[in-house]
Amino acid sequence: MVVKAMRFSENASLQTRNTFAITAKARFLADVYDESQLAALLNTVTAKRLKVLILGGGSNMLLSQDFDGLVICPQLFGVHCISENDNQVIVEAAAGENWHQFVQYCLTQGWYGLENLSLIAGSVGAAPVQNIGAYGVELKDNFVSLRAIHRQTATVREFSLAECQFGYRDSVFKGRLKDQYIITAVRFRLSKIAKVSVQYGDIRQELTSKGIDSPTPQQVAQAVIAIRQRKLPNPEQIGNAGSFFKNPVISQTQFENLKQQYPNIVAYPQQQDVKLAAGWLIEQAGWKGQSLGQAGVYEKQALVLVNRGSATGQEVMALAKTIQQSVYDKFGVRLEVEVNLI
Ligand code: EPU
Repeated sequence: MVVKAMRFSENASLQTRNTFAITAKARFLADVYDESQLAALLNTVTAKRLKVLILGGGSNMLLSQDFDGLVICPQLFGVHCISENDNQVIVEAAAGENWHQFVQYCLTQGWYGLENLSLIAGSVGAAPVQNIGAYGVELKDNFVSLRAIHRQTATVREFSLAECQFGYRDSVFKGRLKDQYIITAVRFRLSKIAKVSVQYGDIRQELTSKGIDSPTPQQVAQAVIAIRQRKLPNPEQIGNAGSFFKNPVISQTQFENLKQQYPNIVAYPQQQDVKLAAGWLIEQAGWKGQSLGQAGVYEKQALVLVNRGSATGQEVMALAKTIQQSVYDKFGVRLEVEVNLI
């Protein structure tokens, strides 16, 4: 296989490389096409002296200013089967693969388990960092291991499921090992036997409306795609980074008090605590469809902030802070930002 040579540029625009379509620039930008190029780059003086930002699909970040450092874009591609038996397959995808295309490829091969995660923007390599999740399934449910390269030493190591410490929109790569590793490949265990996860209300409704009782994984994927297309803005048309905030988790006691005041509050009981639908809180605080300058709150899903044309990262942050304050004033609940602020 012929691998392209690394591409290095200076004063590079990041506008088409972040789904919020913010017009920030990088002092240096490098597209790398395999692990050895990545290791060589990390060993250069430039990489060792400068601030480094790893940019996958750019779909879960907000650039608040130009990046005065080196942006590394891992353009590592390839999907292959590591092992299989009659029931399951272990498949490895390189970090640069587009997540949605990877999920659809698995479906065409008859490898099931990722269908609820259809149409999530971003790359395979970024997916474990925040343990992407949707419609009752999280990445961790089908995860086996990943390969990652250390940013300082350029050594490669493997991380098991336990070592990744996955949680709700969380992993060790957002915590103790933040900014230390670059993920280069991810392995999943997928089932060859079709079994679907349709407990999430929206999916059930979508399938019922189509008269489907026992859906195939492909039908579940189609349902998820239809719901997402209805509710979430297409980043190719309206700049956004998906849910801007996490759904907040509060204590049972705080929830009982809120429920007295707001009987319609949307909540999901957890083992000990209660997770609230942040979209509901933001909508009730009056923000759905509103704007502050060029930054706005999406009309069909209040958890998503959008770039109405030429918003700066600062403008989006100003809107986010105002919403946080407003939700806190009304409900006493703090909203935590879910996207990475750069
Ligand atoms: N809701 C409102 N108003 C809104 C939005 C939501 O009242 O404007 C209420 C509705 O009652 C709705 C409920 O909140 O039924 C839940 O909404 P939705 O099903 O859209 O899910 P979410 O909790 O807002 C989470 C994830 C999404 C994921 C969906 C589906 C987070 C931060 N977000 O959103 O993930 O697609 O569930 O599983 O957990 C993302 O992370 O970027 C993302 C889009």
